[in-house]
Amino acid sequence: MNRDEILKTNKLYWDTYADLWFGATALPTYGVHFVTEDDLHLFGDVSGKKMLEICCGSGHSLKYHADRNAGELWGIDFSHKQLENAKRYLAENGYSANLICSPMEADADIPKDYFDFVYSIYGIGWTTDLDGTFQKVASYLKKDGFFIFSWHHPLHYCITCSPAEENGGNTLVMSKSYFDESYFKTAVDGSEILLCNRKISTYINALAKAGFVIEQMVEQTDDVTMNAEGTISTKMKKAKMHPISVLFKARKL
Ligand SMILES: C[S@@+](CC[C@H](N)C(=O)[O-])C[C@H]1O[C@@H](n2cnc3c(N)ncnc32)[C@H](O)[C@@H]1O
Repeated sequence: MNRDEILKTNKLYWDTYADLWFGATALPTYGVHFVTEDDLHLFGDVSGKKMLEICCGSGHSLKYHADRNAGELWGIDFSHKQLENAKRYLAENGYSANLICSPMEADADIPKDYFDFVYSIYGIGWTTDLDGTFQKVASYLKKDGFFIFSWHHPLHYCITCSPAEENGGNTLVMSKSYFDESYFKTAVDGSEILLCNRKISTYINALAKAGFVIEQMVEQTDDVTMNAEGTISTKMKKAKMHPISVLFKARKL
């Protein structure tokens, strides 16, 4: 599938439906039914630190860091509608950020060797060029700066739940190959998006190639979900049996 077509389709979705996602996937949340930053403390003390969010969406994660006295806030996102929402939301809370409207794959006006943290909450998987994006992220970071990101766990797209319901909720079915990284269309909100499902090794190898060392990888459903019993959603049932999200903390060498 052609890269421009993928970007065009996905940008149209985000420009149209930005309001539906206002604050939906933002720190301290890393993913649905997943352990949070309150559990993990991956960022530690961010006071005075320079932060760049890739795919910053409505700005809620930027505000999270602003509330913790981060020194500088930067965000990049290709949706002008998301950035309008982010600008307004941050201003309403007395904050401002350097917001850049651009695909993460493109050369953007972002300083090099500058940031203490580059991070992304459910943004990185949208890239049409994983190696190139990780190389760009590495170029923005200072030496020993951290890159933290969460995304769908690849098992999430491979395993379906409905037959599990028929079997009393305890059996999940592998309905898509883990090895299939080709693009597919998904219907969302009456529109469509284009995504691919990358293997864990694809992320790890791309991080290594871009000059990162992985300090932590998290595949942990939260305790509330793990301990849930009785009538629970199908997503919760899945989350009790395999991680829905995956999270990496890597350091630039
Ligand atoms: C799930 S949202 C992230 C929300 C964000 N964590 C927050 O705190 O609001 C994903 C974002 O990725 C952006 N996006 C998708 N593909 C992109 C690309 N190729 N380049 C830049 N931004 C992209 C979308 O516009 C959307 O705002």
